[in-house]
Amino acid sequence: MILEPITRRRSHFSFSGEPVAQEKLLEIIEAATYAPSSMNLQPWMYYYSLHGTSGFELLLDCLAEGNQLWARDAGALILSAARMRYVYEGKEYLNSHAWHDTGLANSLLMIQAVALGLKTHPMGGFDPEKAGKSVNLGPDYQPVVMIAVGYPGNEASLPAEFLKRQTAARKRKPLEEIVKQLTGGGA
Ligand SMILES: Cc1cc2nc3c(=O)[nH]c(=O)nc-3n(C[C@H](O)[C@H](O)[C@H](O)COP(=O)(O)O)c2cc1C
Repeated sequence: MILEPITRRRSHFSFSGEPVAQEKLLEIIEAATYAPSSMNLQPWMYYYSLHGTSGFELLLDCLAEGNQLWARDAGALILSAARMRYVYEGKEYLNSHAWHDTGLANSLLMIQAVALGLKTHPMGGFDPEKAGKSVNLGPDYQPVVMIAVGYPGNEASLPAEFLKRQTAARKRKPLEEIVKQLTGGGA
């Protein structure tokens, strides 16, 4: 059952600082590539850096301060980006699904991470301009989210605020609130 690892994914805060093996990172990124995408454009692009390298410090420095506090112990940081344009029959168009499709890909990446015993945490709290410059992002691309990946660390050393978020009961809207069956005109 795939639902079980899906429910086990949650945004994790306490990381051990142990670097993630490159093969594992590539495996979770490979999972991302199986996402569906509009016109099969596969607009996603991934940049990763391993804990203990200058690339890691570069990406860490792009994060909002509140995220840096715990993400500094991640085993790797990933920047996902979306290609916003595509060319069809010689003409250039905006891909209005680029962010959506990159989000789908990111989901698969995070679920594969669960299967490998890795924890993840997506973050929108970063400076996209700085991040784009750090990785020399092409002009057609936009940074989407950064994702911290790693092994679980010692919860006891987490600031109380993060520990509370990490251990809180999952909050999800009930299905009745977000699902409507269409049986005729209007739901
Ligand atoms: C686009 C996006 C941006 C997010 N940005 C941050 C962030 O900057 N910092 C943070 O701690 N969590 C961030 N999160 C994590 C959410 O807070 C988290 O997914 C949400 O509370 C649901 O919890 P769960 O992921 O554990 O199920 C982000 C998640 C998404 C999808």
